[in-house]
Amino acid sequence: MRTFALLNLLLALVVTATRTVAAQSPGADAAYHPTPVNLSARDEFRQARFGVFIHWGVYSVLGQGEWVMNNSKLTVADYEPLAQKFNPTKFDAAAWVALFKRAGTEYITITSKHHDGFAMWDSKVSDWDIVDRTPYGKDVLKQLAEECERQGIKLFFYHSHLDWHHPDYFPRGRTGRASGRPAEGDFNRYLDYMDAQLTELLSGDYGQVAGIWFDGWWDQQSKGLGHPDAPPHQTQVDWRLPQTYALIHQLQPAALIGNNHHVLPFAGEDFQMFERDLPGENTTGFSEDAGIGSLPLETCDTINGSWGYNSSDQKFKSVKDLVHYLVRAAGRDANLLLNIGPRPDGTIDPDSTARLEGVGEWLKTFAPTVKGTRGGPLPPQAWGVTTRTDELVYVHVLNRPAADAAGWTTLPNTDKLVADQVTQFPSNTIVESRRGSNGDLVVRLSNDVDTVDTVLTLPTPR
Ligand code: GLC
Repeated sequence: MRTFALLNLLLALVVTATRTVAAQSPGADAAYHPTPVNLSARDEFRQARFGVFIHWGVYSVLGQGEWVMNNSKLTVADYEPLAQKFNPTKFDAAAWVALFKRAGTEYITITSKHHDGFAMWDSKVSDWDIVDRTPYGKDVLKQLAEECERQGIKLFFYHSHLDWHHPDYFPRGRTGRASGRPAEGDFNRYLDYMDAQLTELLSGDYGQVAGIWFDGWWDQQSKGLGHPDAPPHQTQVDWRLPQTYALIHQLQPAALIGNNHHVLPFAGEDFQMFERDLPGENTTGFSEDAGIGSLPLETCDTINGSWGYNSSDQKFKSVKDLVHYLVRAAGRDANLLLNIGPRPDGTIDPDSTARLEGVGEWLKTFAPTVKGTRGGPLPPQAWGVTTRTDELVYVHVLNRPAADAAGWTTLPNTDKLVADQVTQFPSNTIVESRRGSNGDLVVRLSNDVDTVDTVLTLPTPR
């Protein structure tokens, strides 16, 4: 009898353990059938190719990035008073959106809640929010949503799964361990709270929300919590993703769900994102388990080296580097979500502004070679990438190989491309071309073309 009870207990444990893992496995919610409006939102997302990412919250007051609470080991009690100093009286939603439009972005993804748990809207289930805790006292997401509607640009919310402030975020994950919270809590109650906050954001008060960009799932990933050999998709908690995803799709079927979990997408997700890596790369270490699935792709990166406002970070990328990143992403069939960290007074610094405008200037001419295109037909090359429409291939020469003495430039690995009818973009002038001895496309490039990205137009190969 005792053995039987023990066996039963063991069985129950195994079942619970497998259930947690299974709930987190790719394909677990096989019942997800995206609605037609969701599928067309995915298409529009794929065509957009360029969005602006905004990390903004009370942490901007300290000017040391959005991880300052964790990195400086601030307790909840140390951190909360920051809200009294957060007074973004210069925030001007109309000016922000106008800037993002000048930059040529098609959508905005802003932090509704980052890891510090602070809500940038007037939450009803918590007073740890911008309206209840700051002298400013106004709902910035609401102002932004209304302005996006007015100026016709899509709005996504970045929403942190993990929370360094909520007491029920327990068991604690890899981060936020110095927050001074008692070693207890009810994880399902925390998830109920998260779902309640998402319901507020998707209730219609913030208009049609383009999507939810989750981050922080990895905080509970088993392989980062003392089980290095655990499969990448395994977590020590059940995040209840199917339940949360179903809620979002029920409230707003066209809202796209993405999750920065750095593993292959789970069922219920509508796009796949990469952090600081182009799809297929792993320069950061974040993408080692990512793989490339079949959903629309997006890669995010910073305009300097930081996400949240960092007053000492002057490592701004050049306009040329940013254009190259955008083009390289498009060549891999991915969008670029380019991040800025606004200042605590609500303004965007001149360095970020100038770069956004610089990319916008380039897009004024070159948008058709990026927006509305798909990646390919060639894989990325050392000299650049290709994008395509149904009729055309755009060859983006980003690093021009040296020409021979007669002025001919060989583009390696281009034997799949058509070698005649090559024209220069945007002038549409004919570019002299031929096929090299090994089949590669050989062109005579003029020197007075754009030096950021020399774009050639070719008919689609048959
Ligand atoms: C990381 C960081 C986070 C940032 C995000 C953006 O996951 O935790 O601070 O928001 O990357 O991709």
